[in-house]
Amino acid sequence: MPVKNLFVTKFYREPIGGKNVEELRDDLRDCCYLMAEEDEAGIKWCEDNHYRGYTSYASLNDLDTRFSPFAELKKRMDKHVAKFAQECQFDLAGRKLVLDAFWVNILPPLSFHSSHIHPHSVVSGTFYLDLPEGASSLKLEDPRLSMMMAAPTRKKDAPEELQPHIFIKPDEGDIMLWESWLRHEVVQNEAEEERISISFNYRWG
Ligand SMILES: [Fe+2]
Repeated sequence: MPVKNLFVTKFYREPIGGKNVEELRDDLRDCCYLMAEEDEAGIKWCEDNHYRGYTSYASLNDLDTRFSPFAELKKRMDKHVAKFAQECQFDLAGRKLVLDAFWVNILPPLSFHSSHIHPHSVVSGTFYLDLPEGASSLKLEDPRLSMMMAAPTRKKDAPEELQPHIFIKPDEGDIMLWESWLRHEVVQNEAEEERISISFNYRWG
């Protein structure tokens, strides 16, 4: 077919890798629950903003200097982000992408996180710590959706790359990365237990 793909949206998914991943997950989980119990500013922010569960998004931003398991996770994340930046062919003019925000999400059953983007960042992503049976997928939206106006919808069985919305179900221990302008949401958590993830933004340093 005389047709090629243009304006490709890259998306990265890979197990975090490195040594003793299960041990690292256990240590990270302990830190997440400690924060959920003791981070008073975060707990208040969640209450004030009707966020069911817990997020440290608005209260703690130095997780990698506060907790050594987060420092270890950051080290592993940096490598994946550098690979993704290469795949995206970013011309970083000799600079690097650097971690700018780092936060925990404990999402209870039936909760969700509505559609959003991450302004002022280049690459955003999530490390998936605990995904009990039925835990939410990540839903991605074609960034051109608002321009499609009179365009017909796509066939239900069209290839994934042509769908306007794509659902991606990670595995525990996966890291997923995308460019920060890509609109995404966490759909309702159908699991009977909490879904725990650790999210982050990288900016052009
Ligand atoms: Fe996000």
